Amino acid sequence: MSDQIGALRGVLVSTADNCAVNCRFCFRADVGRDVLSLDTYARALSRLREIGIDELCLSGGEPTDHPEFGRLVRVALQFGFRASVVTAARSGPRLDALAEVAGMLSHVTVSADSRKADELGRTGRTISSTPKVFEALGHHRASLHVTAYQLDDDDLTEIAAVVEAAEVPVEVSPLLPSPTFRFENPNLARDLELISTSFGMSDQLRTVVSDYHAWLHGSVQRSCESVRLYLSADGYLRRCPYDKSGQVSVTATRQAIHEALDRSFCTPPTTGLACMAICRPDNEG
Ligand SMILES: C[S@@+](CC[C@H](N)C(=O)[O-])C[C@H]1O[C@@H](n2cnc3c(N)ncnc32)[C@H](O)[C@@H]1O
Ligand code: SF4
Repeated sequence: MSDQIGALRGVLVSTADNCAVNCRFCFRADVGRDVLSLDTYARALSRLREIGIDELCLSGGEPTDHPEFGRLVRVALQFGFRASVVTAARSGPRLDALAEVAGMLSHVTVSADSRKADELGRTGRTISSTPKVFEALGHHRASLHVTAYQLDDDDLTEIAAVVEAAEVPVEVSPLLPSPTFRFENPNLARDLELISTSFGMSDQLRTVVSDYHAWLHGSVQRSCESVRLYLSADGYLRRCPYDKSGQVSVTATRQAIHEALDRSFCTPPTTGLACMAICRPDNEG
């Protein structure tokens, strides 16, 4: 196994290509009908542990909608992974499924939207509906992630209330265009300033934002630096969620998987805009 493969730290797992929440601006890499099967998942985890990966983030689609969500978490733990989840769950079966395994998760990121982002994307993922999600977890290994579009004082008040009540950190990041949903944010500079002064910006977020500005002027040429692999719902491993050219099936031989991963370091995929937001060095969850 090469040193570069040994540097890989985690895997982002797409539990399904479809999503019933259906945010209009969703930038997930795969849109379709595939749902990750337990067989494919277990085979992938086995190969990933062999190359030293022990962190896994269940995403999607909406992971709590997966028919075997609880088993995905338990199987991850059985293989020796630390498992985290990114979720839009708020109530009903989604929240029940999350609460059932919450104690086993190393981290839960609860996604929400600013009021204008909610309006634009018709997401229903309000900030004010998150406290009962944090309460249901029964621990504080969690954070609030707010996707921001035209942030206003009401958003800031709501975020502050959640952070205080739930005792969890918040990360606010700008709404980014997706391949299928383009929009203008005339207040982007103001949003970024507000995010920076009100919440601070992580180094990762600063990188995304500067790439975003460069991208608007058509000048970004950056190769993938991700230390996290992506497992698609139809059973392929790849470095970049958005670039299928170097992907390898989890049913391939160990040698074929190693060779494909090695190649992904020799000729890394070029980053696109959405990828900058989720696939950056040192990102978590
Ligand atoms: C693709 S979702 C999958 C997990 C889960 N369904 C959720 O919404 O949390 C992962 C993250 O991407 C964020 N996201 C989706 N589309 C986005 C966009 N256009 N700009 C910024 N963030 C976006 C979501 O808010 C969420 O935090
Ligand atoms: S952002 Fe999450 S909840 Fe919204 S459509 Fe995408 S995957 Fe579904």
